[in-house]
Amino acid sequence: MKLWCATLDWLKARTDLPDKTRTFLNKPIPGNVGWLHTLGALLLFYLVLQTITGILMGLYYSPSPDQAHESIRYIDTELRLGALVHSLHHHGAAFILITAFLHLMRSFFLAAYRAPRELLWWSGLVLFLLLTLFAFTGQLLPFDNHGYWATEVGIRIASAPPVLGPYIREFLTGGYGDLGATTLSRFMILHVAVLPLVFFGLVGLHLALLQKVGSAGPLHGSPEPYRSFFPGQVLKDLSVAALGALVLFLVAWFMPPGDSGPADPGATGFVPRPEWYFFAHYEILRMLPSGWQLLGTFVLPTAAGGALVLLPLLDRKSGGLLTDRLRFTLGGLVLFGVVGLTITGLVEESREKPKETAIVGDPIAAGKKLFHTKKCTKCHSIGKEKGGDKGPNLARVARRIRRDFFKPWIRKPGSFRPDTEMPNFEGSEEELDAIVRYLQTLK
Ligand code: HEC
Repeated sequence: MKLWCATLDWLKARTDLPDKTRTFLNKPIPGNVGWLHTLGALLLFYLVLQTITGILMGLYYSPSPDQAHESIRYIDTELRLGALVHSLHHHGAAFILITAFLHLMRSFFLAAYRAPRELLWWSGLVLFLLLTLFAFTGQLLPFDNHGYWATEVGIRIASAPPVLGPYIREFLTGGYGDLGATTLSRFMILHVAVLPLVFFGLVGLHLALLQKVGSAGPLHGSPEPYRSFFPGQVLKDLSVAALGALVLFLVAWFMPPGDSGPADPGATGFVPRPEWYFFAHYEILRMLPSGWQLLGTFVLPTAAGGALVLLPLLDRKSGGLLTDRLRFTLGGLVLFGVVGLTITGLVEESREKPKETAIVGDPIAAGKKLFHTKKCTKCHSIGKEKGGDKGPNLARVARRIRRDFFKPWIRKPGSFRPDTEMPNFEGSEEELDAIVRYLQTLK
């Protein structure tokens, strides 16, 4: 205790940190601020975690088309806890976007954009936009087929605006038209340097503004008696963050991100789809007749964004432009629409799955890729191509094994050797065929 007081005095003489902290914790907040107001704190928690897992990934990631996929595979299969960190970062992005969306909807429902919180609202909107850019630039980095093709679609959307479009495409791809080494470098530098700098600067501003104007109080009438931020609200924030952490860890643990194989610009059979949290927008695009795409890629998003920006100016006080009834109906419709369209997208995706894995082009090349996607590399190396070492190196496997033994073995190794560690093959006959044809070339 004595040491604690001495430290505190030492700090007090040099900074106003202790005083600032006390004012911060004792800050009065309206009595009815409660669970709905924990979303911001949860978001902050996810952002910090995302930064940590991002830095950890960055220590092993190599941003070149030749090595990016391999470096992610290394993280997933060989690094202790690497797969968990990757998974946390992968799903963390979705959790952040969902939480940010709910945070935004909550502010909309409570009309928290009205004076004096306009700047808080506007900075929040920019932060939300930046978050989508984080997700967009991040999905290319593993340079697998999924990210490659989703980015191709994304760049097409981003370059939809008239006049500016071609310049945006040139800027994002690095001028070559195709996605290549320059594209990957640019996405990397945006993802790990430019965006974080701007983003965390703005987060600071957002929080400073919040300190100044405080959380939005009740919609009507006088607020319930004020109480201090600590301990009640702090405990609520912390318990929601703890729960949020638990859910994210469970999802990350049980649903590792899939691997769609190293990006192959020639893989025409691959159906490009964005990450699931972009499905709502994607479904709208798919519903539009061809020729109307600009409506979905540019006009609608700009209009929606513009409306959100103008909101604090148009709807200044209760009983103004948006009555509570109207606002709740509008917000409800948006929520309902986004959830509905996302579910539609998920159903569509599960229907399209088989197409994604259909073998296109050279079966031997397809088999080589499947050897990665089916996680055979978790246990097998092939010559110098490093994989796991639980199973034998398959460099000359075709010399060792009889032709007709491959298929039955890979499909069900347990029926030959009950105590084997090798799992049964999960996939179509066509895929198994491609893998076997590839393995038979290894002599
Ligand atoms: C969990 C680890 C593991 C995974 C994943 C795995 N294997 Fe194996 N595999 C083994 C082990 C261990 C052996 C050695 C046989 C034994 O003792 O069980 C083996 C043996 C083999 C052999 C025979 C090699 C020889 O020289 O005798 C082939 C071929 C093979 N695996 C192919 C595959 C393919 C194709 C996949 C992906 C669909 C795969 N394995 C996935 C662990 C694995």
